[in-house]
Amino acid sequence: MDVFDREMSRETIFKDRNVLSPHYLPDHLPHREAEIERIMKILAPSLKGKKPNNIFIYGKTGTGKTATVKHVIDKLIQAKEKYNANVGSVYINCRTHNRKYQILLKIAEILYPDENFMGFASTHLYDRIMDYIQNTGVIYVVVLDEVDQVKDVDDLLYMLTRANDHLQQGHIAIIGISNNVTFMDKLDPRSKSTLMQEEMVFPPYNAVQLKSILSERVAQAFKPGMCKDSALELAAAYAAQESGDARYALKLILRAGDIADEKGEPVSDIHVKQARSAVEEDIVLDLISTLPEHPAIVLYAIASLIREGGKYPTLGGESGEKFLFSGEVYEKYEKVCREWARKPRSARWYREYLKELEMMGLITLTMSGKGIRGNTQLIKLAFSPDKVLSAIEKKFE
Ligand SMILES: Nc1ncnc2c1ncn2[C@@H]1O[C@H](COP(=O)(O)OP(=O)(O)OP(=O)(O)O)[C@@H](O)[C@H]1O
Ligand SMILES: [Mg+2]
Repeated sequence: MDVFDREMSRETIFKDRNVLSPHYLPDHLPHREAEIERIMKILAPSLKGKKPNNIFIYGKTGTGKTATVKHVIDKLIQAKEKYNANVGSVYINCRTHNRKYQILLKIAEILYPDENFMGFASTHLYDRIMDYIQNTGVIYVVVLDEVDQVKDVDDLLYMLTRANDHLQQGHIAIIGISNNVTFMDKLDPRSKSTLMQEEMVFPPYNAVQLKSILSERVAQAFKPGMCKDSALELAAAYAAQESGDARYALKLILRAGDIADEKGEPVSDIHVKQARSAVEEDIVLDLISTLPEHPAIVLYAIASLIREGGKYPTLGGESGEKFLFSGEVYEKYEKVCREWARKPRSARWYREYLKELEMMGLITLTMSGKGIRGNTQLIKLAFSPDKVLSAIEKKFE
């Protein structure tokens, strides 16, 4: 038997691994019943040819915004068939279509599947979309997921509103989705009032809710008894700490499932713990791979000092958290630069690098407050120093 034969004949603990993939859309979304109902209520007039309000949905990552809206759109299309309603809809992920032009192009291509619009100006696309809606009288629901990613979002929203003013029949309704808190503040007040006719906030899931979300998926994904209840509970607890992110919970269980499957064991706590550190490693590696050289060296200096204990390891008191003084980190940074044959940058640059690292979530900065060495900056590492060190060493290999 070679490797292929062994892999093919191996028993697996999965029934349907795909159920845990990020692209899988579950039929049932526990703890989003109220949100689903509210969106359905808002969209319901469209089935009678009336204009529904625009909706803006906000919530942290992994709170089920995308899954919920896709679920409602599926239901809307079912109702359209059932009641023979003049309703249409398009789902656009603005991460991949991040300009007004690309969004118009996508809509035009869907409305006119036999035509090729490449190379046409956006005014032409706009006119053709308007023609379609005007001639058919359709109520067209445009979902703009991750709408904060659109570079010319004010233009886009202004254009869509103006479109409605010009239509004698038919209508464009917008559902905007975002996980970015500051997005609304940056919008033009006019765009804001257009988009926010209805506003919804999706709260983060707590550990109990995450557990029930996971249970349903796990029951479909694994063979009976192949994922222990305690493993599921642990994954839910970890994800609750990560701001109630259901995607993270699923990622943990999938990774734990793969680790357990490799060993031919049912998923238990130990696999979830291993999965967590593997997932954390992925995140750190991703972040660090994008860092320029000097911020990476500063981070290296921080991680080494934490591992060595630093000069003030007891700072942070009962919580046992390890903070470093900004000054000692700068000294270490200069030292590492010399060892790696790099010219250290000035203290002013160094402070910029610290801010950059904080923005990326790799470190946290706090002021010491009076008493501790005057008022100095304290630095804390967000991930385990060993992982950070090995990631940076790999980068400089
Ligand atoms: N209530 C739920 N029941 C079952 N699965 C859920 C639920 N909420 C979220 N999920 C699952 O968690 C994952 C993340 O959900 P989703 O993509 O909808 O999050 P999001 O709020 O759109 O996050 P982001 O802001 O990062 O785009 C998906 O795989 C989704 O199927
Ligand atoms: Mg989403």
